[in-house]
Amino acid sequence: MKAIDIRRKYIEFFKRHGHKEIPSAPLIPENDPSVLFTTAGMHPLVPYLLGEPHPEGKRLTDYQKCVRTNDIEEVGDNRHLTFFEMLGNWSLGDYFKEESIPMSFEFLTKELNIPAEKISVTCFAGDDDCPRDTVSAETWKKVGIPEDRIYFYGKNDNWWIAGEEGPCGPDTEMFYDTGKPACGPECQPSCDCGKYVEIWNNVFMEYFKDKNGYRKLKQKNVDTGLGLERMTMILEDKETPFDTELFSPVMDKLEKIQKVDIIESRRIIAEHLRSSMMIIADGGKPSNLDRGYVLRRLIRRLIRHMNKLQIDLNELSTLIDINVENLKELYPELESNRENIKNTIIEEKDKFMKTLEKGEREFKKQISRLGNTKTIPGEVVFRLYDTYGFPPEVTRELANENSYEINIKEFEELFKKHQEKSKAGSEQKFKGGLADQTPETIAYHTATHLLNAALKIVVGKDAHQRGSNITAERMRFDFNCDHKLTPEEKQQLEDLVNKWIQEGIPVTKQEMTKEDAIKSGAECMFIEKYPDIVTVYSIGDISKELCGGPHVNNTKELGKFKIKKEESSSAGIRRIKAVLIKN
Ligand code: SER
Repeated sequence: MKAIDIRRKYIEFFKRHGHKEIPSAPLIPENDPSVLFTTAGMHPLVPYLLGEPHPEGKRLTDYQKCVRTNDIEEVGDNRHLTFFEMLGNWSLGDYFKEESIPMSFEFLTKELNIPAEKISVTCFAGDDDCPRDTVSAETWKKVGIPEDRIYFYGKNDNWWIAGEEGPCGPDTEMFYDTGKPACGPECQPSCDCGKYVEIWNNVFMEYFKDKNGYRKLKQKNVDTGLGLERMTMILEDKETPFDTELFSPVMDKLEKIQKVDIIESRRIIAEHLRSSMMIIADGGKPSNLDRGYVLRRLIRRLIRHMNKLQIDLNELSTLIDINVENLKELYPELESNRENIKNTIIEEKDKFMKTLEKGEREFKKQISRLGNTKTIPGEVVFRLYDTYGFPPEVTRELANENSYEINIKEFEELFKKHQEKSKAGSEQKFKGGLADQTPETIAYHTATHLLNAALKIVVGKDAHQRGSNITAERMRFDFNCDHKLTPEEKQQLEDLVNKWIQEGIPVTKQEMTKEDAIKSGAECMFIEKYPDIVTVYSIGDISKELCGGPHVNNTKELGKFKIKKEESSSAGIRRIKAVLIKN
């Protein structure tokens, strides 16, 4: 079965079971400054898992593009990918284990025709935070999975949370038995030998974790994720995702044009190329910061591996075309962005080529000075990064090829210091502050607070900020609202904001505990992401928000506020674009 058919069947199946299909969010999250990329289908749904009503109801389904980069250096083996697609279905305080498990089982066995004997499952074994998940195990037995194919594991295997804090819970995971011989008497789904492949994960999200531990959420949710690449691999009866239709055209071409034969390098090229193309299609640009830096690393690493296989770098354009043709049915955005993707990747290649050779020479010079030690100091790794644009994994690979290690810890310390200096590291954003602090962006930032307050008066007190984006030229502001704003509403918003600007209201800043801030009624977009002590900005008694700042001292500094556009951003979310006109 082709990937597109698996996706279609999935969405249709869950629609038949009362789910509404929601669109795939972009890879670059619009409304969450705390992460680089969308990493799971649940990601854009966090506010709804926490209890906010979703405009489409309590049963949702979608296919979601995801990028996870923590395993970037593992790519090249037979399974790791940085870009993948996750098929998902959610219950937001609706059905729970007893309904979720039979649905998954039915989809696997009836829609995809996977024999039930091939499926093993795992459940949460229980600990001090959460009891043993006997309900899931019993439900699996009821649908026909015998006890000897039901395994219990602890938090390491059967608990799911995105990062350190947030909604979470025990999960039950489904594994496909490839039929390979067991690696030993102890061989189980948790084993890495390749006999079992994890195919689907149903998370029963009824907890919330923060620094103080676990507490129950208002509602019991289900969050499931099925990896499209893995499922394609199983249904096409292939050994690795690289052998499936998703990668084979590029892999075949690489085999034809390579002069040196290294399978890991071919996989790295194919994987990083697809990932880079998807990120660029969603608006990514290579840079030395945050997501731009991830993209830069992906492109530079794939270039180095093309060199390793002695492939002419002019072939990049053909490889991109092959991917566009192969994947455009799944991702039409690749076709509409083809030229941009090509230009971006080729430009980045040209930049890297200017320093690659010199950097490799520098690398050789440095290792010849090391004497007996086999570890390259972080300082050298950093210099290669800073002067020659070598991402650390490129240096690590070079080192390993010459039987050296790199001191990655030292490198990371230097890198962090460097990013702190350049002021716009991800932590800066994490605080909710402005990365780019010019008088213009600061004024726009204060204007977003005024608009947020005005919306509560004009649209309703439940209208909250869902995201914002500020440049020196304009502001963009997303908020929840179930209708297109009328011309009168827009006028009222403008009038209110301009009235407050004219009144010359002072903007004040206070530090307090997160708890006190919430009690005082301060507005906040991602409460779980703030530290214990927070800054609260008040504008007279008009607005009070948790915020990293900075802001102007008085509203009279803002100029005239004008709404340029009001449009839909996604389901239930409206977007206002506005400017400040200098007096
Ligand atoms: N959030 C879970 C995962 O990423 C299930 O969707 O696996």
